[in-house]
Amino acid sequence: MPSLLRIDASIDEHGSRSRAITTAFADAWAERGPAFTTTALDLHREPVPHLPDPALHWAPSLRQPGAAPSPEAEAVQQRILAQLLEADVLLLGAPLYNYSLPSTLKAWLDHVHVPGTTTPFGDLDTRPMAGRDAVVVSSRGGSYDPGSPTEGWDHAVPPLQIVLGEALGMRVHVITTSLTLAGSIPAMAEHAARADEEFAQATAAAVVLARTLPA
Ligand SMILES: Cc1cc2nc3c(=O)[nH]c(=O)nc-3n(C[C@H](O)[C@H](O)[C@H](O)COP(=O)(O)O)c2cc1C
Repeated sequence: MPSLLRIDASIDEHGSRSRAITTAFADAWAERGPAFTTTALDLHREPVPHLPDPALHWAPSLRQPGAAPSPEAEAVQQRILAQLLEADVLLLGAPLYNYSLPSTLKAWLDHVHVPGTTTPFGDLDTRPMAGRDAVVVSSRGGSYDPGSPTEGWDHAVPPLQIVLGEALGMRVHVITTSLTLAGSIPAMAEHAARADEEFAQATAAAVVLARTLPA
């Protein structure tokens, strides 16, 4: 029974392009049959708390002597981790906010990057998500083209690639749709055609992945 964990983080409940693309993915996933289940987590509507204690960044056996995170905070983290560990495929809607991740998505990421639990550390070869697929849908108001003055200003995708890919060992697929503000900001209107084309391509790419993952 392949299971999808779909996480959205856009604060735009109506015109969001990342939500539109994650919806296209989830619909194509569901069309494969009842065995293809989905768990949905909307971090805008139901944010997870900030990680409240540094001890929770570590597996219990790696914590400093005397570390005593609250049982309530541990329970929250265990629930978030369990949701991830159950997923064969992770789908993340990741809008670019102030050149970085939505704070809600960052709070989720802080809960799941746990050396000794989700990533190896010392003698602990813990990598339960290794080899599973993560699809990151990155929507950005501007463009970050190679060679342009804003090349490298996108600080949302890189930490997801590092944490999910390098640390957790997942296969990360990145889908981007840029210039999304072209339809609403007159000064960007000249980019509307490219924005629409990128959005159509990103949606099509998401559907292809939804029909073929897990790899
Ligand atoms: C709080 C906030 C900050 C934003 N910061 C940036 C930014 O730094 N760079 C950018 O290109 N677009 C920025 N935008 C525009 C969004 O990236 C763009 O609207 C994108 O489409 C949002 O994803 P969504 O369509 O899924 O909601 C920002 C939007 C908001 C609401």
